[in-house]
Amino acid sequence: MEYRKQTVRAVKPGGLRALVRADFNVPVADGAITDDTRIVATLPTIRLLIERGARVILMSHLGRPKGGPDKKHTLRPVAERLASLLGRPVAFAPDCVGPEAESRARPLGEGDVLLLENLRFHAEEEANDPAFARKLASLGELYVNDAFGTAHRAHASTEGVPRVLRPAVAGLLMERELEYLGRALDRPARPFVAVLGGAKISGKIDVLNALLERVDRLLIGGAMMFTFRRAQGRPTGRSLVEEDRVEMARAVLARAAERSSEIVLPVDCVASGATDGSAPGRVVALDSLGKDDIGVDVGPGTVMLFAEKLSGARTIFWNGPMGIFEVPAFAAGTLGVARAIADAGGGGAVTVVGGGDSVAAVQETGLADRFTHISTGGGAALEFLEGKVLPGVAILDDAPAA
Ligand code: 3PG
Repeated sequence: MEYRKQTVRAVKPGGLRALVRADFNVPVADGAITDDTRIVATLPTIRLLIERGARVILMSHLGRPKGGPDKKHTLRPVAERLASLLGRPVAFAPDCVGPEAESRARPLGEGDVLLLENLRFHAEEEANDPAFARKLASLGELYVNDAFGTAHRAHASTEGVPRVLRPAVAGLLMERELEYLGRALDRPARPFVAVLGGAKISGKIDVLNALLERVDRLLIGGAMMFTFRRAQGRPTGRSLVEEDRVEMARAVLARAAERSSEIVLPVDCVASGATDGSAPGRVVALDSLGKDDIGVDVGPGTVMLFAEKLSGARTIFWNGPMGIFEVPAFAAGTLGVARAIADAGGGGAVTVVGGGDSVAAVQETGLADRFTHISTGGGAALEFLEGKVLPGVAILDDAPAA
């Protein structure tokens, strides 16, 4: 799916109240933001609007609060972080609609910034309630959606508001995400290699099938490799196998053979007696996996094999860790594959990473700046690659035909 949408660069926001949907759904622990990637990623859009004299009103969700406002899910820490990143004050409204929001939006001057409280404190947000959408829309004179991470949700702030507020344009982050996940992966420079990991096939079967139709080679790691191994009738020990997906894995292997696309499965793994790091790991060839072994990471032989299969690629997409990388003893496979992808990028490949866990892994390697594009979307990036319509994008104004 390739979208051609009007962007914020094409509008004249000077003096106007720009209502901006951002995805500030960031991890917060004890009131402190632990990763501000998504806030930083939205800065170009906010700065552009400030420079052009807009009165900027930001809205977002945080987490999945149920049953009204709660302290744990307040966006107040985001306002503070944003203010320090922008180097200017960011006002905060303790509600996203009604008098609290209106009284703070009204006095905004050109270049001023206001953040509204968590949209999901109102159940009407997720219900895409038209009356709630109209209340939100009444705060702005121009709508900008920069929340790629939430574009797969048809909620009031992503789909309801642009129904009633025009112009409705894409922000710069949204534009970049659509460009790399859309253009780069739809018309990729070849060879196009995808690396898929993660624990389960179940959430990824659609993306697996979609990628299979497009890639020249698919490398599979993470615990999902064991469901494939089971489909091949190979030993899996006590590793995670989704018994009800074995047939699916078999179908994927058969489809790949039919298309002559290459599926590359690991040759070795780190096996342990426990998944939490309380038992040591040792490297074993997959065919020698014992009946009590649990595979917790790909092994060094696999990292070498994957590196070989990645070198010479012109486009690489990566989603999902290779093992339980949050346990340091089981992180080497994920970090090794991240390095191999970064190296292929150094050799000229366009490298795109999508999905929460793999993004965290890339950040951990310190190699983030060696990737072409790190998507801020988890579910949104996967749904986009599956070819599903993203309601938050589809509703935006189309760019004029070139
Ligand atoms: C995400 O983190 O994937 C987005 O912010 C969407 O959040 P949600 O899955 O709670 O809708």
